[in-house]
Amino acid sequence: KVYRASTTAPVNIAVVKYWGKRDPKLNLPTNSSLSVTLSQSDLRTLTTASCSAAFPSSEGDSLVINGEPSDVSGARTQACFRALRSRRAALEAADPNLPKLSQLSLRLVSENNFPTAAGLASSAAGFAALVRAVADLYGLPDEPRELSRIARQGSGSACRSLFGGYVAWRAGSAADGSDSLAEQVAPAAHWPEMRALVLVVSAARKGVSSSSGMQQTVGTSGLFAERVAAVVPRHMDAMEAAIRDRDFAAFAEVTMRDSNSFHATCADTYPPIFYMNDVSRAAIRAVEAINANAGRTVAAYTFDAGPNAVVYYLEQDTEAVIGTFYHVLGDMDGWKAPVIQGLKPSMT
Ligand code: DP6
Repeated sequence: KVYRASTTAPVNIAVVKYWGKRDPKLNLPTNSSLSVTLSQSDLRTLTTASCSAAFPSSEGDSLVINGEPSDVSGARTQACFRALRSRRAALEAADPNLPKLSQLSLRLVSENNFPTAAGLASSAAGFAALVRAVADLYGLPDEPRELSRIARQGSGSACRSLFGGYVAWRAGSAADGSDSLAEQVAPAAHWPEMRALVLVVSAARKGVSSSSGMQQTVGTSGLFAERVAAVVPRHMDAMEAAIRDRDFAAFAEVTMRDSNSFHATCADTYPPIFYMNDVSRAAIRAVEAINANAGRTVAAYTFDAGPNAVVYYLEQDTEAVIGTFYHVLGDMDGWKAPVIQGLKPSMT
């Protein structure tokens, strides 16, 4: 008999960024963060987890991503497997009739429906799907909150992909990470007009991985202390209020300020880290032009650890935002298709 479970997890894009670990081993962040989870029909990872006594135990656990075998020996993946297995083992200990799945090796097969060329960080959707697929396979009763604690150990941003809509990852203060988990701030239906546009500046892999980049920033940037102590707490409060009030101008200002603040701490890292390039900066100017033309704030840019822009806007402003973007950037050097537009917040 082969036991099997499949699940999907969507991509999330932070509007208040996670950058910095206070405990790299447990993957605990220096600050809280907040993101919008995009809809599954747009960008998601589909993962199938299976196990069977018929799989040779010498094989060990395995993971195939988009058809390519992937290494599972890394500490992050191992931490997730360990946490999930020990929960299953507890169920098996309580009910001797349950098959001993915790003792079998796991086979995971994972696929992204978005073009790798989109250059989007896939670790968030990837680890969220991995954790939920194995939790389903094991029949774990855990709430998304609990699973977010496990997914966080795989990749910090993954904990936010276990919820749809508007999601906060509370940094927490406990040394063991027990209070560092994600929660939904508002469901997608609270503000369903939100849209995201991904501007693909480059599909190339990022130069400095976020894990290593953020620890270089923690270790060397003077600005970073200010970001953690004052800037992020202010942005978290303002962002939660903006979402509560469906105030796009406030949402947009905090989103852009927080992206700028994060990239400023990267530039203040020694030696400096540059994720944005000239095309990214042109996209910022384009958003400013779009807002100036409209006479109000209709678009907000944000950049993760790479040059691609994500632009948030509201459905009713699609024309003003998309039309102008093509106009401003249409024949610019260094601009690459695809532009992925119209992404909605996830309903789950
Ligand atoms: C810039 O979640 O990829 O996208 O925990 O080391 O796996 P690890 O880092 P990761 O970092 C994401 C950083 C970011 C901001 C964000 O998503 O909040």
